[in-house]
Amino acid sequence: MGDTPKHVAVIMDGNGRWAQSRGLPRLAGHEAGSKSIERCVQACIDTGVEYLTLYAFSSENWKRPALEVNGLMLLLEKFLNQKRDEMVREGIRLHHIGRIDELPTVCRRKLREVMEATASNTRLHLVLALSYSGRAEIVDAVKSLAADAESGAIQPDDITPDLFASRLNTSDMPDPDLLIRTSGEMRISNFLLWQLSYTEIHVTKKLWPDFQKDDFLAALEDYRSRSRRYGCVAG
Ligand code: IPE
Ligand code: IPE
Ligand code: MG
Repeated sequence: MGDTPKHVAVIMDGNGRWAQSRGLPRLAGHEAGSKSIERCVQACIDTGVEYLTLYAFSSENWKRPALEVNGLMLLLEKFLNQKRDEMVREGIRLHHIGRIDELPTVCRRKLREVMEATASNTRLHLVLALSYSGRAEIVDAVKSLAADAESGAIQPDDITPDLFASRLNTSDMPDPDLLIRTSGEMRISNFLLWQLSYTEIHVTKKLWPDFQKDDFLAALEDYRSRSRRYGCVAG
């Protein structure tokens, strides 16, 4: 039996379908999805997962109707307001990845405040991917290396996978061991393109608002049953 994954990443998908199947507006699905986040965070604390990265809003999600986008931003603000004290108390440290300068000012300010308030916590690193695009993150890393090469600070040959990874938003985190995607879609949707190279993938048909602690534990069981070979022979 393998170990508990150190880093679990989640593509929280299916909120819209969950709501539509109940005749509710899509935002009701996003609201219900917040409860699944709480359950997932608790499951990580209970099982000793150290990093939980949640795909909360992709760069492509800006193309959704304004009503939905605004509702999601309000939900983010509400989540940060409601969870701030609990995160401080429970030893959860908040991080973000993505282009947060594209978020509304109030969300950015709140994010910064909660990140500062939880900066000394170490029990669980909760990473929110907001206005995140794996391709944009890679392009930003390339631009930063190109600028250094142009100024002479580095030579092209100095660029190694480690140096490249150090320019990504995730430079201070291990790569995910396990990726969970809900709602049955078999795709990555521009999430952590560099970091997922050797991540084990668990897809469940459950829609995100229906995702329970037991579903998280089942994903961990599935992970433990895998043989991670990194290109080598099974041993
Ligand atoms: C995931 O649920 C949440 C976000 C993308 C913000 P969706 O809103 O994508 O739900 P479906 O896929 O339409 O059911
Ligand atoms: C991925 O879900 C993004 C988030 C969960 C935030 P989407 O619903 O946006 O992805 P696609 O459209 O199914 O690829
Ligand atoms: Mg979706």
